[in-house]
Amino acid sequence: MKSKASAPGKVILFGEHFVVYGVKAILCAINKRIQVTAEDIDENKITIKSNIGSLSEKPNKNISEIKSPLKPFYHLADKMLKEQNEIKGLKITVDSEIPLGVGLGSSSACCVAGAAAISRLFGEKSQKEILELAIESEKTIFQNTSGADCTVCTFGGIMEYDKKNGFQKLEYEPNFHLVIANSRIEHSTESVVSKVKQFKEENIKKFSNLCEEETKLIKDVLIILKENNMKELGKKIIQNQEYLETIGISNEKLRHMIKVGEKFSLGSKITGAGGGGCIFSLVDESNLVNILEEFENNNYECFSVKIDFKGLDTF
Ligand code: PMV
Repeated sequence: MKSKASAPGKVILFGEHFVVYGVKAILCAINKRIQVTAEDIDENKITIKSNIGSLSEKPNKNISEIKSPLKPFYHLADKMLKEQNEIKGLKITVDSEIPLGVGLGSSSACCVAGAAAISRLFGEKSQKEILELAIESEKTIFQNTSGADCTVCTFGGIMEYDKKNGFQKLEYEPNFHLVIANSRIEHSTESVVSKVKQFKEENIKKFSNLCEEETKLIKDVLIILKENNMKELGKKIIQNQEYLETIGISNEKLRHMIKVGEKFSLGSKITGAGGGGCIFSLVDESNLVNILEEFENNNYECFSVKIDFKGLDTF
């Protein structure tokens, strides 16, 4: 038997880093996906094949013995195999359109699509149950995950998130194009977050003012998104980027990418932890070809995305 599932990647539209200190963030799913195929095999093995490598191990191993970024898949497969005695082993194949390790939610999309595809071989589960499984498996590689990425990958669309109130999917469906440019510098979220913590400790007043500014900005953005007012949204993107510059998560390359994006966009900013990773530009349809050419002429990997309103898909 074979089971397939796919889940979208994500971008943080607004609020990264400040969200760590209680400010609201806005995330959205993007129409770049990861597809996971799971099938039962006669051999008592878990094998995983993906574009970042492969893994073949006997079930029932302690998760700490699995030294691979494919750990979440092993965790999911092993857990499911333990809960029954009909299926002996599993073969898992991963196909990804999402660049890895640059803040576009590739690991969360893997966990969500993996949880759905694998668990479906053993019976039907609700989206909520799949999300819980996905977050549990993501914790094998990122202990402190907030679960925000897995949530937006599961349900799709736009979501607001804050530490106190959790997630809330926004009902509006604004229609815009983002162009994502990749610095190809893999970033460690953990180390950039601790750099920001240091900035905060050395600039207590300044940081608290920035949190207030960001809170106001997000409040405005929620109205702007509802009205689908792209020009105003672009201004807020530029403003948010200034705050990210101030807290020191940008660098020469990211600043250059934002400058390149400026020419044909309504606004550009870093998405995610920074220090590397990606930026996005909010683009009018008429400028889509121009901006892609501009990034390519400057040797940046880039692609356009729209919001994915579908979320997890099984087939
Ligand atoms: O680049 P990413 O997707 O890992 O984004 C991290 C977002 C932060 O706000 C910097 C950290 C966090 O845990 O919210």
